[in-house]
Amino acid sequence: MKNITCIEDLRRAARRKVPRAFFEYAEGGSYAEETLRANRADLERIKLRQRVLVDVSERSTKTTILGEPVSMPLALAPIGLCGMQRGDGEILACRAAQAAGIPFTLSTMSICSIEDVAAAVDKPFWFQLYVMKDRGFARSLIERAAAAKCSALVLTVDLQILGQRHRDIKNGMTVPPQLRLANFIDIATKPAWALSVLRGKRKTFGNIAGYLRGMESVNTLSQWIAGQFDPALSWKDVEWIASLWPGKLILKGINDVEDARIAAKTGAAAIVVSNHGGRQLDGAPSSIAMLPPIADALGSQIEIMFDGGIRSGQDLMRAIALGARSCLSGRAYIYGLGAGGQAGVTRALEIMRNELDVCMALTGITSIGGISRRVIASMEARQSGAGNPPSTL
Ligand SMILES: Cc1cc2nc3c(=O)[nH]c(=O)nc-3n(C[C@H](O)[C@H](O)[C@H](O)COP(=O)(O)O)c2cc1C
Repeated sequence: MKNITCIEDLRRAARRKVPRAFFEYAEGGSYAEETLRANRADLERIKLRQRVLVDVSERSTKTTILGEPVSMPLALAPIGLCGMQRGDGEILACRAAQAAGIPFTLSTMSICSIEDVAAAVDKPFWFQLYVMKDRGFARSLIERAAAAKCSALVLTVDLQILGQRHRDIKNGMTVPPQLRLANFIDIATKPAWALSVLRGKRKTFGNIAGYLRGMESVNTLSQWIAGQFDPALSWKDVEWIASLWPGKLILKGINDVEDARIAAKTGAAAIVVSNHGGRQLDGAPSSIAMLPPIADALGSQIEIMFDGGIRSGQDLMRAIALGARSCLSGRAYIYGLGAGGQAGVTRALEIMRNELDVCMALTGITSIGGISRRVIASMEARQSGAGNPPSTL
């Protein structure tokens, strides 16, 4: 890991080590990938003010998320099939996050189950919920998360139906992976990956394993989701979920001011401004373009988290400056996991924390609470975002 100096290095290493179908599953976005690209491009366009001769000898990246102390304003995002980037990937990533002092979120569509992860780590983690048509099953997932002492429930609201990802179809991705002529050489040249997945606790979706019974032949993710996820999910169901969940509720996948206003009235503890990493509505604005208007509309009514395109500490600074209290990392940590398992995730987190620390020093800031729109160099972005078209970024 010594020569790994940035997230891009981890991405390249992951591409060498993870079979193509799973690497591209993580890398890709929906349809023409316009929103996927916009997430990165719009972040890169935001320039930071270089400030000098400020005493920055005492700095800290520590802050809180939902009242809990964290070493930096970051949590690991829910990632489906995490355990296909590396065997037991969810456990490895959770351990790395907890050692780094930040929250880990387990996806409904994970390989290791809620109980597998709870048995393997010693602190609580967050659980992300997708709501199925079978509400009894959704309820049982919430109860299992509560029994495992998960410390927050992340309800994902932007995937009632699945945006098509061309790459997954072209790669013929299946879960569990099947060795066929087309992928034989690919898998044969990734022995460390194959061994880790073979040795891993599970080869298919751990949380829904019992529920999948009789459906093993439906092996593509999109077919399964189309059949099971509930397209009728509405704001009324948020009340129902809140009534079942005793702890903190986070609504993930808000990318519109009107939706953000409704979300703030649900009693949820936080929202995540997100477009699912460019994997759902292609043509949606980047999430960083929507962050300032949403932050302006909500003020301090509800905690605002952000994701989409975070690949560095500088990106964390940009998002915090534009109104997020904290961010989620998706692909950045997944590249680390594919590149080097738990050590790779640890490296990804070290890289981003160190970058944030240096970025704070060079912008003349000593605490996370001191980051505001004043650190943004471009005047348009510093203006109140309310009513501004997203393109001002
Ligand atoms: C491979 C992959 C799988 C994902 N699976 C889920 C999931 O199961 N549940 C969910 O709420 N979001 C899921 N997401 C979205 C992420 O939680 C997050 O919103 C997104 O990755 C943020 O963008 P970034 O990857 O650019 O950081 C997934 C994203 C990726 C890349």
